[in-house]
Order: sequence, then structure tokens, then C-alpha cells
Amino acid sequence: MTKIEAHPLIEARGITRTLPGEIEAVLVHDIDLAIQPGEFVAITGPSGSGKSSLMYLLGLLDTPTRGDIVIDGHSTATLDEDRKAQLRLETLGFVFQFHFLLAEFSALDNVMLPMRALGKLSEEAMRARAMSLLTRLGLAEHSHKRPDQMSGGQRQRVAIARALANDPKVILADEPTGNLDTHSTEQVFDIIRELVGEGGRSVVIVTHDPNLARRASRRLHVVDGALAPVPDANS
Ligand SMILES: Nc1ncnc2c1ncn2[C@@H]1O[C@H](COP(=O)(O)OP(=O)(O)OP(=O)(O)O)[C@@H](O)[C@H]1O
Ligand SMILES: [Mg+2]
Repeated sequence: MTKIEAHPLIEARGITRTLPGEIEAVLVHDIDLAIQPGEFVAITGPSGSGKSSLMYLLGLLDTPTRGDIVIDGHSTATLDEDRKAQLRLETLGFVFQFHFLLAEFSALDNVMLPMRALGKLSEEAMRARAMSLLTRLGLAEHSHKRPDQMSGGQRQRVAIARALANDPKVILADEPTGNLDTHSTEQVFDIIRELVGEGGRSVVIVTHDPNLARRASRRLHVVDGALAPVPDANS
């Protein structure tokens, strides 16, 4: 029997992302990091420091100019877009500051979308799974509603259910509580924290709030597109 070594779920190897222009903009500069199974990592940093840019790269929604991103042991530097999309659908779930739910779809249909894209379950099984995710998030009674018929906190919980649709190994959440009131922030943060460790799942969360960041198991700080020492408490 071959021993299976645990490997990081996401590994960034010297990733840099520049935008061409008269003056080349450097969004992310030479970042190395590894997200291990079961980790809860908070990313902090000033506005415009490159946190979202880094999340897009880690989530294969953007491509580094230099370096490689290894997802669950798969190097992505030479993968074509179809293979990357497949890896993304199977391995990663996203929650953004703005929910990005489809306005004309019900909560249930929104949650089923990533399952449809992956195409592994029957219609019936997709529907049942979406319903059970919405139930878990306390939204069983709202499954038929469209996003504009729900509160901000409810919409963000639908977005979390959608992120969980294909049982991802990693959830990437970019300021998921950025638009919520204090009560909904606590609720959504607690839900996200509960997802950590299920089947080895990792969560990476960008937050402006040092109080939330402190509750993660590890914190990364980004300044000017690069990793920097984490500032002292309260900053
Ligand atoms: N498509 C783009 N074209 C030009 N500049 C961009 C683009 N995307 C991001 N930037 C710039 O890159 C830098 C990093 O942006 P990014 O959105 O990653 O920061 P952030 O840390 O997520 O900020 P915030 O905390 O405000 O969300 C900023 O200076 C931004 O203006
Ligand atoms: Mg951002």
C-alpha cells in the first residue's frame, strides 16, 4: 500500500499578477503560501492592498503572470481553461461580498447551479441536496424566493449554500460579511466557521474586521500586493 501524504489544498508558488499599461500595475507580488486541510485562514490588509486579487488567483478566477497555483495537488500553470473550470467546480466554493445570486432564479435554483455545471447528479438528487443545504442554513421556508425577496443576511446564506453545492474542499470567502449588520455578520461568520474541518475542509476568508480575523486559526496580512507581518492586536 502506498502511503498517501497529506498535501496542501491550495499552494501558491511565487505568484505575481501584473496588469500591463504605461505604468505596469502590480496587483500581487511574489506570494508563496499554503493552505492545509482543515485550516481557517483570515486574510487582512488595507483597502487596495490586493486581497481580492489574491483570492481571484487562489480560486482560479484569474491567472498569475508568473508562478504556479497548485490546487489539491494539481499544478494549474499549464492547465487549459476547461480543466481549470472543472477543478474549480469540484474543489472550490466561493462567497463574495456581493452575493452574485441570479436575480430571476429562486434560492433553490441558485444553489443548484454549480451542481448543474458539474453534471454529476440527477435533477432529483440536485434538488434534494440543494434543499438540504438551504435547510442547514435555516432557509427551508425561503427556498422558492428570489434574491430580491430576501434580506441581506438571507441572501448571503443562500450564497453560502451555493458555495457548498459541490461539497468543496476549500471555501474562499471575500468579505462575506462586508455588507451585513452586526447580527447577520455574527450569524454568517459562525456558519462559515462551522464549515471548517468538515471532511478536512479549509476556509480562507478576507475580512476588514480584526475581531473576526482573530477568530481564524491563522492570519495572513497583505500590504502592497505582498505578504507582510501581521500587525499587533487591534489593527
Ligand atoms: N482590473 C483592474 N484594473 C486596474 N486596477 C485594478 C484592477 N483590479 C484591481 N486593481 C487595483 O489593484 C489593487 C488591488 O485591488 P484589490 O481589489 O485586490 O484590493 P483589496 O485589498 O481587495 O481592496 P478592498 O479591501 O478595498 O477590497 C488596487 O490598487 C486596485 O485599484
Ligand atoms: Mg477586495
